Amino acid sequence: MDHFEYRNGSLFCEQVAVSDIVAEVGTPAYIYSSATLLHHYNAIAEAFAELNPTICYSIKSLANVNILKLLAKAGSSFDVTSGGELARATIAGGDASKIVFAGVGKTDRELVDALDAGIGVFNIESEAEFENLSRLAAQRGAKPHAALRLNPDVYDPKTHTYTATGKKETKFGVDIERAVRFFEEYGSGPNVMLDGIHIHIGSPIYSAWPYVEAIGKTLSMIDRLKEKGFEINTLDIGGGFAADYETGASPLADDYAKAIVPLLKDTALAVIIEPGRQISCNAGILATEVQYVKTGGEKNFVIVDAAMTDLFRPALYGSEHFVYPAAIDATAQPPERRAGFAAPGGTKVDVVGGVCEGSDFLAKDRVLPPIARGDLMVVFSAGAYGFVMSSQYNSRPRSVEVLVDGAEYRIIRRRETYEDTYAAELDV
Ligand code: LLP
Repeated sequence: MDHFEYRNGSLFCEQVAVSDIVAEVGTPAYIYSSATLLHHYNAIAEAFAELNPTICYSIKSLANVNILKLLAKAGSSFDVTSGGELARATIAGGDASKIVFAGVGKTDRELVDALDAGIGVFNIESEAEFENLSRLAAQRGAKPHAALRLNPDVYDPKTHTYTATGKKETKFGVDIERAVRFFEEYGSGPNVMLDGIHIHIGSPIYSAWPYVEAIGKTLSMIDRLKEKGFEINTLDIGGGFAADYETGASPLADDYAKAIVPLLKDTALAVIIEPGRQISCNAGILATEVQYVKTGGEKNFVIVDAAMTDLFRPALYGSEHFVYPAAIDATAQPPERRAGFAAPGGTKVDVVGGVCEGSDFLAKDRVLPPIARGDLMVVFSAGAYGFVMSSQYNSRPRSVEVLVDGAEYRIIRRRETYEDTYAAELDV
C-alpha cells in the first residue's frame, strides 16, 4: 500500500504531481511519502498492539534524519548498526534507552559511544564481542543490558542468500547449541546484564512461518535458560517483514502478527521488533529522466540519469522493481504494478544507467510504452535500501531526497555537487 497513484495519466505522490517536484529539484530524485511511512508504522503498531512491543525502526533501510524525526514523533524507537546510525538516532530525538544496537563488528569507539548514550540493549553477536563490551563497560562504570543474538538455523528459501541471516553458516549471531554455554560463561557477569535474546532471521522474510519456527526454538531455549537460573526479560524478534516490490502480494503486518502474537502474548517477555523495509520500501520512489534510447543487437535500451550508484539492488541482488513512465496516456494506466506487466503495444527494453559496468541496470526485459529522450521514469518501491546504498562511483554526486506531506513537499537532503565528491580529499 502506498500513496503514489496515477491521476489522469500523471503520477502523484499524495497531493503533489511528481513532475512538479522534479521540475524544481531535478533528477535523479528520491521522493518519499510521509503518509505511506506513517501508514506502515501504524499498521505494525496496531497489529502487534497486544504485545505492547517496542518498535525499533531499522535505520539502515532509510536513514534520512528527517524521516527518523517523523517516525520518532509517531512513537518509534530505533535499531542501529553503527556509530553513524546511533548519531542519527540521537539527532532525530530518539529515546536512547529504547535503542537497540546489532552488528557483528562493533568497534571500541562505537561501543563506547553507545555506552555513553545509555542505549537500551546491545545485541551481542559473539563471545569475543561480549568480553570486549564487559571490559569497556567496567572501564566506564556502566552496566548495560545485553541480548544474545541467537542463530536459530531457520531460513526462508525466497530470501536472497546475501540477506539470509538466520542460517547457521552465516557470520551473524551465535549458534543455538552454544547459547547455554554462553550464558554459563557470561550470564552472571558483573559488568553487563545479559538478560535478553535477539534473533533476526533475514530480510525480507516472505511469510510468517520462519518466524514461528525461529520463535518456537527461541522460547524453548529461554525455558532451558530459566531452568538453569538465568533470567530472560526481553525477546527481540528482529526485522525482515516483507514489502511490495514486484506485486502487491507481500504479507501485511497483520499476517505476521496473527502468527506471532499468540506465541508471545502469554509470556512475560518484553518484546522488541525491528522493522525496516515494511515501513520504508513502498514509501519511496526514484524519479529519473531518460537521456537516450538506443538499440544493441536485438536489445533496446532506455538510458536514464539514475544508475546502480543510486539504486544498487538490481545489480546486487537481481531485484525486480516496477519501473514505468511518470506521465502516460490517461487510458493506459498500469492496472497493477508488477515487474512482469507488459504495456499494451509496448516494446521490450532494459532500463540502464550511465555507469561503466554491465551490471548497471535498473530493470531488464520490461515491456514499456513508447519512451523518448526527456521522459520522466519512476522506479517504484525504492524507499528501502535505495538512497542509503547509493555511492559516488564514477564521481557521480548522490541524488536529492524529497519528503512529501499532503500538498506540501520539502527537500530533506540536497543534491550533492561535484565538489561534494572530492571535498574530503585533502589538498584540493
Ligand atoms: N534488524 C537487523 C538486525 C537487521 O540486520 C536488519 C536488516 C533489520 C532489522 C531490518 O530488516 P528489514 O525489516 O528492513 O527487512 N540491502 C538488503 C537488505 C539488507 C538487510 C540487512 N539487515 C536489501 O536491499 O534487500
